[in-house]
Amino acid sequence: MGQPLTEAQAAPASAPYKAFEVAPLAGALGAEISGVDLATLRDDVVWKEILRAFVEYSVLVFPGQKLEAADIMAVGSRFGPPSYYPFVVGMPEFPYIFEIIKEASETRNFGGAWHSDSSYLPSPPLGTLLYALETPSHGGDTLFTSTYAAYDALSEGMKKLVDPLVGVFSAELKYGGGRTHMHKSIGAMEIHDTDKAAEIGAEHPLVRTHLVSGRKALYLSRSHTVSIKGMSEEESKPILEYLIAHQVKPEFTCRVRWAPGTLTVWDNRCTQHNAVNDYHGQRRRMRRLTVGAQRPG
Ligand code: SIN
Repeated sequence: MGQPLTEAQAAPASAPYKAFEVAPLAGALGAEISGVDLATLRDDVVWKEILRAFVEYSVLVFPGQKLEAADIMAVGSRFGPPSYYPFVVGMPEFPYIFEIIKEASETRNFGGAWHSDSSYLPSPPLGTLLYALETPSHGGDTLFTSTYAAYDALSEGMKKLVDPLVGVFSAELKYGGGRTHMHKSIGAMEIHDTDKAAEIGAEHPLVRTHLVSGRKALYLSRSHTVSIKGMSEEESKPILEYLIAHQVKPEFTCRVRWAPGTLTVWDNRCTQHNAVNDYHGQRRRMRRLTVGAQRPG
């Protein structure tokens, strides 16, 4: 394999894509990519185009792939070095990858609220790869929203208000019943250290600038953002809740429908996602890898 390309080496977004077909999923973000076999793809020129599409569309969906865990690691390395998820035990030989499983007998799902992955870490992962192994006959889709589009749509007055704000982030899942409670109700996934979640936190700008595109994006969620720095929780809440509701307006979103063999890669710097929990009685099993720890700025 050639040297991994950094996103910054990707060509500017104006040129057409030559190596594969790109079908946009919605107006704001997301594209389905066909005509590439990720398990065998070694061509740096094609990878450069994929990274360019990643920056342009923020969510890339690759249906019909055949990826072993080692292949997921290799694909992930094109986007950034692997980063650990702090609360779920990884695969024995691939500790950075863990399985997201909801059994037919379970009613709670993992990731079923709008969030950007691990935004409570000082350096959260820039990207997430999610590969479908078993999917329900229907339902179990994942929703995505463009936090670029949400920021762009704010009034100039609101942008001036939120631009300098810093959010206080916590892994505790304070407004969701607590992390231990959440993880314990998803019995098929092996957890660790959820009782230490309240000790993991960070401060990040509520408006972050994407290092490659240079665009500004909102960066907050009800799951992980507890308050605004310098304000009480009570004072913070109306501002946070306004932005949280605003950033998921339908026109900023797209929806990914899964089938076994679908790989989706998303950019946590400029999107939020929400795993739709509408498939009780059916099993869903995915493999997840996060990559590219990066301090929001
Ligand atoms: C996640 O939040 O990482 C899970 C998304 C999903 O299972 O669709």
